[in-house]
Amino acid sequence: MLVNSNALFSKALKEEYAIGAYNINNIEFTRFVLEACQEDKSPVILGVSESAVKYFGGEKTVYNVVKNLIDELNITIPVVLHLDHASSFEVCKRAIDAGFTSVMIDLSHLSLDENIKITNDVISYALKKNISVEAEIGEVGSNTVNGINASLEDAITFVQRTNVNALAPSIGNKHGIYTKDEELDFELLGMISKETKVPLVLHGASTLDDNKIKTAIFCGVTKINIDTDLRLAWTKSVRKFLEENKNEYDPRKIILSGKNSVMNVIHSKNKLFGCKNKAN
Ligand code: G3H
Ligand code: ZN
Repeated sequence: MLVNSNALFSKALKEEYAIGAYNINNIEFTRFVLEACQEDKSPVILGVSESAVKYFGGEKTVYNVVKNLIDELNITIPVVLHLDHASSFEVCKRAIDAGFTSVMIDLSHLSLDENIKITNDVISYALKKNISVEAEIGEVGSNTVNGINASLEDAITFVQRTNVNALAPSIGNKHGIYTKDEELDFELLGMISKETKVPLVLHGASTLDDNKIKTAIFCGVTKINIDTDLRLAWTKSVRKFLEENKNEYDPRKIILSGKNSVMNVIHSKNKLFGCKNKAN
């Protein structure tokens, strides 16, 4: 069933595990994630970015596809439908009004005060509808843009002035593929968790080695975002399938040729995060 993330995070924080937040862009990936997590009896967060909402056909389409798949596939695990990296109050409001159960307002590029102000606007609206809110401080980087680490002071101020449900501090993590020598500031992460007590989110967790993931969970991370790993796994399998089946032109067979590899990534992540069999 569709739930917000608050109770899921409280349990995960207490029992020291994390919940997979897997990004979806279409109906097929939505099915892969739901089916894999149902098999694992793990709670799941379906992350949908602003651009993925557009690609999918709008907030209502995303909501109706997810809601109907939950019914049709007899999905019984807790499912959070989460808007990822939203750029404004209006975008968050549209998703909340369409039925999303969690939103991330990402204004980490603005000043701390502006980030706090607009995050509070989103929280005021979300609270009325029992929707979870995540925010980011510091700036998570990417393969092309360097990140800016958060500061402990900003994290404490942000949580004190917003009471946000989950916080994504930038600690040297980045979206995309790591080159293996990036350092993540786990000391900062642990201090933010200790001082704020708020559930933390690790963005850009794809291609991170398992020890860093386990350390992040030990430091208070309860939501781990995975997108690139799913894309890499799917693309590798589809390429191979097309190489070996040059006469195939049924899009269903071509898309589904990546299904097992995506589901295997999800199974291995759920096991690593410790969230298998945690859906009750
Ligand atoms: O918001 C989405 C995630 O942070 C995905 O990051 O593509 O590096 O796994 P990733
Ligand atoms: Zn992210």
